[in-house]
Amino acid sequence: MAVIYKAQDMLLGRAVAVKILRPSLTSNPAFLERFREEARAAARLAHPNIVTVHDVGQDRSTHYIVMEFVEGKDLKRLIREAGPFSIDRALDIAIQICAGVGYAHRADLVHADVKPQNVLVTDDGTVKVTDFGIAQAFSYSAPGERQSVVWGSPHYFSPEQAQGEPPTPAADVYAIGVVLFEMLTGELPFKGKDHRELALAHIREEAPSVSDVNPGVPRKLGRIVRKVMAKEPSARYRTADQLGRILETYRRQGVDTTTPPTRCSGGGSTGGRPADAACGLWRARRGCGELQRRHAAGSAVAGVWVSLRRRDGR
Ligand SMILES: Nc1ncnc2c1ncn2[C@@H]1O[C@H](COP(=O)(O)OP(=O)(O)O)[C@@H](O)[C@H]1O
Ligand SMILES: [Mg+2]
Repeated sequence: MAVIYKAQDMLLGRAVAVKILRPSLTSNPAFLERFREEARAAARLAHPNIVTVHDVGQDRSTHYIVMEFVEGKDLKRLIREAGPFSIDRALDIAIQICAGVGYAHRADLVHADVKPQNVLVTDDGTVKVTDFGIAQAFSYSAPGERQSVVWGSPHYFSPEQAQGEPPTPAADVYAIGVVLFEMLTGELPFKGKDHRELALAHIREEAPSVSDVNPGVPRKLGRIVRKVMAKEPSARYRTADQLGRILETYRRQGVDTTTPPTRCSGGGSTGGRPADAACGLWRARRGCGELQRRHAAGSAVAGVWVSLRRRDGR
């Protein structure tokens, strides 16, 4: 979808992250129009658990977003390095994700691509969700275009998203449920060799119980995750705020929260290459190592030289 660079804003002397959209996307006028709208909406979101968007612009045919640079790691990497997490840590991260996404829901914005790669965690444990509304822009392309421009991430999207329905807050809640499942078990609930298989699994298969995959997770928490991942959107918590409140209550009451989770046997779909390969279809990873360029006058970083360095967690 895009390539991320770490860059220096020479005017304000701060590090920023610059997301440059792939030309294959920006040649689609329907996407571009919707993308600008969504980016403007995302730029209005000011919340400690959301990556701040500083600027959205265009320099000739290059479309970019300038955002707050978050010093830390993305959650996918953290899960690979240390999953499954302790219950306290998984709840802490999930509650912060809910706070950011819930704030967006109150502002009528659906994320539509909640996944650990879009969750950045700073060294002091603050969670920041990024890429608000970008995937949403895809969902408004004409239906015929949807097959060539894939949006969302097949390991995390809800059954209704898998069927091509426009995303809603309940779809974000489902995706947060998959992320919570992954943090608690170190594994993904559904496996599949490609987009189609994964879509069918989300639509038809029952996710395994979190407590069966990791017996260290209390059944009560397992039931919450099961509800979050209900096939029927109306059977889930309605918004991320509501899910956040449920998790906070569980944490407050949770006599079990200190139960250490047992480490899973590894493998599964998080560690395996086939799952990564499927995921890769929805990401843009390749690109230049480093480049120097001048932004067009008129952008927020106008007339300054920015040194752009490719940032890639993998
Ligand atoms: N604002 C940011 N600050 C620091 N790193 C970022 C930022 N945004 C993205 N990244 C890093 O770049 C990686 C790729 O991001 P992105 O292109 O959005 O990929 P994806 O499609 O997987 O979300 C992220 O997983 C993260 O490690
Ligand atoms: Mg992203």
